[in-house]
Amino acid sequence: MVTKIFPLLHFFTLLYLFTITFASIEEATSLLKWKSTFECRDWNGVKCSNGRVNSLDITNASVIGTLHDFPFSTLIFLEYVNLSINHFSGIIPLEIGKLTNLVRLDLSNNYISDTIPPQIDSLAKLETFHISKNQLNGSIPTEIGYLRSLTQVALNNNFLKVLSLLH
Ligand SMILES: *[C@@H]1O[C@H](CO)[C@@H](O)[C@H](O)[C@H]1NC(C)=O
Ligand SMILES: *[C@@H]1O[C@H](CO)[C@@H](O)[C@H](O)[C@H]1NC(C)=O
Ligand SMILES: *[C@@H]1O[C@H](CO)[C@@H](O)[C@H](O)[C@H]1NC(C)=O
Repeated sequence: MVTKIFPLLHFFTLLYLFTITFASIEEATSLLKWKSTFECRDWNGVKCSNGRVNSLDITNASVIGTLHDFPFSTLIFLEYVNLSINHFSGIIPLEIGKLTNLVRLDLSNNYISDTIPPQIDSLAKLETFHISKNQLNGSIPTEIGYLRSLTQVALNNNFLKVLSLLH
């Protein structure tokens, strides 16, 4: 049970960051404590498989935030993450490489900046990667070319340097 509760606690911390409307941190924290005792059930953009969070779909939800505290280490069973059409800013943390079960990742239409971390090369199951309409700069990491499952990439509308990826 403990092993199940721990990731969920982090997960709901994340959800809390997304949906913060509480006046008091203390009230919110006690609510989260209670929530953390729930088994994972399909709920509010969250889908579960075998009690583990499998899909996170928070598109067009006016979310203002960063990926800084995303619980990459605990949500390792995620296969689908869609955070498109929000106000996420800041960098893509290197820990993104821990989400090795990801099949589809959509971060498009946000304010994510800086470079795409080379750790993306750990996402061996990734088939779809959409991150168009952000503030990314630097070069497209050549590591993207190592992703054998990748069939759909959208990087347009950023400040990325075009590299000889496809040779
Ligand atoms: C996002 O949500 C707003 C308000 O609900 C809606 O008007 C708009 O069409 C949605 N945008 C997209 C791209 O789905
Ligand atoms: C993410 O959600 C948007 C809005 O529902 C949808 O248009 C888009 O196809 C989704 N992205 C992926 C990779 O499935
Ligand atoms: C990307 O932009 C950031 C500021 O947002 C800057 O600090 C960084 O040097 C830029 N990197 C490249 C490779 O242009």
